[in-house]
Amino acid sequence: MTHQVYRADNKYLTRIDAESVHLVVTSPPYVTTEFKRGQDFDYDGFLATFAIVCEQLYRVLVPGGRFALNVADIVTKYRHDDEDSIARVPFGPDCLHVALSAGFRYLDRYIWDKGFTRNFGGPLLGSYPYPLSLFNNNYFEYIFVLRKPGKRKVKQEVREESKVSIEEWRLWVQQWWRIESESERVSFHRAIFPVEVPYRLIRMYSYVGDHVLDPYLGTGATMIAAHLCGRASTGFEISTDCQSMIHKRKSLELRPLIDPELTYGYTDEDEWN
Ligand SMILES: C[S@@+](CC[C@H](N)C(=O)[O-])C[C@H]1O[C@@H](n2cnc3c(N)ncnc32)[C@H](O)[C@@H]1O
Repeated sequence: MTHQVYRADNKYLTRIDAESVHLVVTSPPYVTTEFKRGQDFDYDGFLATFAIVCEQLYRVLVPGGRFALNVADIVTKYRHDDEDSIARVPFGPDCLHVALSAGFRYLDRYIWDKGFTRNFGGPLLGSYPYPLSLFNNNYFEYIFVLRKPGKRKVKQEVREESKVSIEEWRLWVQQWWRIESESERVSFHRAIFPVEVPYRLIRMYSYVGDHVLDPYLGTGATMIAAHLCGRASTGFEISTDCQSMIHKRKSLELRPLIDPELTYGYTDEDEWN
């Protein structure tokens, strides 16, 4: 299976052929990921950019293709200009709304429970120790599953090869996925998902040999999962550290004596300018 990484802004999704992708698995930055000191918290600007990304995802997916969107709500004091109070921002539902506006249909949703105990040492947001402004710790995220209208026709032998075992099926159709967060053991990126998240989604929403796309690739978790599932992949990542992050993530996740070697093509955005 081939894997291609574009060290590039995902505005270059325009370069991917229409109807050439079977599944999108991704987790966008939480608006603040690229936040620089003094920069505006441009929430509406982010959603407007995300709308363009969703339009491209809709274009590149085959009819009947799936789009799994992992996203969480955020807490910030920069959302409203008229006061300096902390507010919870419904980033998940807002992103879902943007994706639906691009034409996707809502198929299902899961809650990824990232683990609880670690938050006992987390920040005490709000008015602690006094009442009125208490914010619960972020220990779950949404995984929205959308579909592009239409139906896929797939050979029976490919369906057979892509089967999910009864044990996996029973576990994966639980609405609540308890998968321990891995951010604490990774210093080279602030917001990763465990490979188990894209691994399940790829097994559930694509067939062996399919093409999986992640427009916010980060450390390459989606590519690693696609490799383990026998699917091809393409990823876009804007960070110039992209290759080094992927290299570190590969060494964390893949067992050299058991897993097949993962190689990928690499193109830098600078080559296009
Ligand atoms: C939440 S992280 C994804 C992490 C990934 N799921 C993982 O496990 O490594 C979002 C990523 O999107 C990247 N990003 C932000 N804006 C982008 C853009 N316009 N084009 C491509 N990548 C972008 C950020 O650099 C960040 O690495």
